[in-house]
Amino acid sequence: MKKLNFLVQIIAFAISITSCSTTVIEEVVILGPVTYTTNVSAIIRNNCLPCHAGTSPSAGLNLETFEGVQNSTENGNLLARINSVSNPMPSSGKMSDILINTIEEWAMQGYLED
Ligand code: HEC
Repeated sequence: MKKLNFLVQIIAFAISITSCSTTVIEEVVILGPVTYTTNVSAIIRNNCLPCHAGTSPSAGLNLETFEGVQNSTENGNLLARINSVSNPMPSSGKMSDILINTIEEWAMQGYLED
């Protein structure tokens, strides 16, 4: 099953905006299983753990463990903040669509651990 992750395919549906002749990515679809160990933990480690780890994490929110990330995703706070335009997490600015989409897909697939 793990090997399937190497075959994760990303399909971006691009739509053309005729008025200004540029192309924007409207939606990113991830095919294949998305797991915490293989896909999500590295995103969290790189973008969140500088602040949300240790004995006194920002906002009292520790994202070092599977359970910590799952709880914050399930209660809606994590998804709200990574998608927020006015008050995003990380606070330095929103992550790329593909990283946000990977976490959303992980939630939709039922929080696979590995
Ligand atoms: C530079 C430090 C920093 C980084 C990096 C950072 N955060 Fe935060 N985070 C904070 C601070 C400070 C707060 C409390 C103030 C606020 O809510 O804006 C917070 C609050 C939050 C909250 C709301 C509090 C709660 O308990 O629900 C969530 C959810 C959150 N962060 C998730 C994340 C996620 C997910 C990432 C990575 C994608 C991330 N943060 C990256 C500093 C950071």
